[in-house]
Amino acid sequence: MRVLTGIQPSGALHLGNYFGSIKQMLEFQGKSDLFIFIANYHALTSLKNGDMLKKNTIDVAINFLSLGIDPNLSTFWVQSDVKEVLELYWILSSYTPMGLLERAHSYKDKVAKGIMANHGLFSYPVLMAADILIYDSNIVPVGKDQIQHVEITRDIAIKFNNANGQILTIPEFKTDENVATVPGLDGAKMSKSYGNTINIFSTLKELKKQTGKIITDSTPLEEPKEWENCNVYKLCELFMNENELLNLQDRYKSGKEGYGHFKASLKEKIWDYFEPAREKREYYLNHKDEVLDILNDGAKKARKVAVAKMEIIREKVGIL
Ligand code: ADP
Ligand code: TRP
Repeated sequence: MRVLTGIQPSGALHLGNYFGSIKQMLEFQGKSDLFIFIANYHALTSLKNGDMLKKNTIDVAINFLSLGIDPNLSTFWVQSDVKEVLELYWILSSYTPMGLLERAHSYKDKVAKGIMANHGLFSYPVLMAADILIYDSNIVPVGKDQIQHVEITRDIAIKFNNANGQILTIPEFKTDENVATVPGLDGAKMSKSYGNTINIFSTLKELKKQTGKIITDSTPLEEPKEWENCNVYKLCELFMNENELLNLQDRYKSGKEGYGHFKASLKEKIWDYFEPAREKREYYLNHKDEVLDILNDGAKKARKVAVAKMEIIREKVGIL
């Protein structure tokens, strides 16, 4: 069973990314044949600064290795190290009806936000289909925003198979319905674009500053406080076990402590939770050659699968 996912190389990771996506992705590791790549070709549709893209690519590799990708259990590489996907992208383009792409929410949303509509942005789902289909992926774990892209992939694959026989594996998406939206500092969805994030790899000082900004009501210190709808409590739920949460509820009710105390407890919890990842990150930051070796090994493994698949596809469509 091959599980494949792509990650965009974009900026610092926050608690929403971790609890909403990365943690679920890593649960496949060791249980399935997990293929994970850094989608740097896709990133070009929105990032037009070469130095920044190079830096983000290495940063995301280091961050994901630190958070738990194990190169002995998974295949981890950079998308552009397997050029065959670009060839499949072109072949699939000829099987992709315009209407399928014109209906893509992600494209329409970006255009509505005033982002310039370039062809890369429009054909983004076809490249994503090539990513998925070239490796015979069975399952694609995605956030809700990416479901339609996997549906488009299925449609393209079915069209291709109708013309050429059962060559492409039809993938299924998997979203985790149990994953709640992680609230940001203001209680809205935590997101880079809202500037309300708590970042995984913050320094202790930054973490103190970020947790300090969580919005609460203004109940005075000596009065009992409500924990049910408190943003600090909601974030504590990600890090505390049942007993710790009951204890925290007692502290809310006691009227002996203020929100500053609860924020300090949250800060400690976040800091401790990511301690092992921080240590690994420190190691990889000082051993970037090792990171490049891991990505190269991953690309070799991925390329082998892609090359074999492309031979079959080329033969079928008549590319000599
Ligand atoms: P951002 O909104 O900060 O730009 P991305 O869109 O890059 O985040 O998110 C990457 C992944 O992290 C997505 O799969 C998404 O489902 C998940 N994710 C992001 N923010 C949250 C959140 N607040 N709660 C749960 N999951 C989230
Ligand atoms: N579009 C995905 C995102 O923005 C990244 C991605 C590219 C991807 N190719 C993929 C995800 C293939 C799953 C499978 O998050």
